[in-house]
Amino acid sequence: MAREQFGICAEASLHGYYLLFNALDDKNAFIRQALSRLPALFEDYADRFSEANLTGVIAIGANYWDEFCPQARPKQLAPFPAMSCDDRVAPGGSYDLYIEIRSDRADVNHIVSDKVCHLLSDSVELVEQVRSFRYLDGRDLTGFVDGTENPRGFHRREVALVNATADENFVGGSYLHIQRYRHNLNLWNAIEQESQEEIFGRTKFEDIEFDDDKKMPTAHTKRANLKDDEGNSLEIVRQSMPYGEMKMQGLFFVAYCNTPQNFELMLRSMIFGDNEGNYDHLLEFTQAETGAAFFAPSLNFLAGLALA
Ligand code: HEM
Repeated sequence: MAREQFGICAEASLHGYYLLFNALDDKNAFIRQALSRLPALFEDYADRFSEANLTGVIAIGANYWDEFCPQARPKQLAPFPAMSCDDRVAPGGSYDLYIEIRSDRADVNHIVSDKVCHLLSDSVELVEQVRSFRYLDGRDLTGFVDGTENPRGFHRREVALVNATADENFVGGSYLHIQRYRHNLNLWNAIEQESQEEIFGRTKFEDIEFDDDKKMPTAHTKRANLKDDEGNSLEIVRQSMPYGEMKMQGLFFVAYCNTPQNFELMLRSMIFGDNEGNYDHLLEFTQAETGAAFFAPSLNFLAGLALA
């Protein structure tokens, strides 16, 4: 049975470290070896600091996959669906490797990130690094609880992980999308709490969903809550976390799914809106500065890279 990487479905943690790399020329063989050893490194540190609940995820960029692993490709892997409408933009970038390290200790994340960088050493360029943190009781920096409607328990695995019917070569893997959003908190904090609640379609402090007839068509939870033609909910597993310093802060958005389509449809619904042009008004207060698509293969697949 293919085993998924533990960070994909893990519960929320207190601290995160996201590392984005590009591969240097002619280093694919070295990188394959290094990545095959990373899960053991995560396990080793998870064991040494067992109270920290350390988990990691290793994912390969959509545009790098064929060069990195020419033998087989996840069926639905595609570049990030960049899109824009008026001043709402979702830019698409390209990174070759994504490493996510999460735990309840910032120092442990730092140690493990340092080890990852050493292991990959001269084979990659570190393009972006983001340190994230839990804010209050699991809130985004806008002050709203983020993650309430995330799939739970076993259902989380069903939503996040590719099964044998979908793609027998990549069972236990997951399609990953990331976006680094930068919030305009001055603008956000200048509006009334009532307007903020309308924008999310939920109450701020108690985190209670508005009744359907009270939800604006422009509410974030209206635009992101989609159903297919048979009325089934389209879902993703969000593992986003707040990040930032005083000059720049926002949400590092992370979504895992057994198909890349759900994220793309949600993003489209947020940016382009419905037939009446009701787009997601949250986008007036935050803007995506990066975006990229990856595939996070199973632990078995990563182990096999040592032999590739
Ligand atoms: C800065 C960007 C974003 C912020 C601050 C944000 C924040 C939130 C918050 C506070 C909620 C309500 C609580 C919850 O259920 O988690 C929510 C719900 C949700 N968000 Fe976002 N979100 C952002 C971007 C996105 C993006 C880019 C997507 C997908 C493309 C997305 C998909 C969803 C979904 C599926 C829900 C649950 C909707 C429901 O069923 O009620 N979000 N988000």
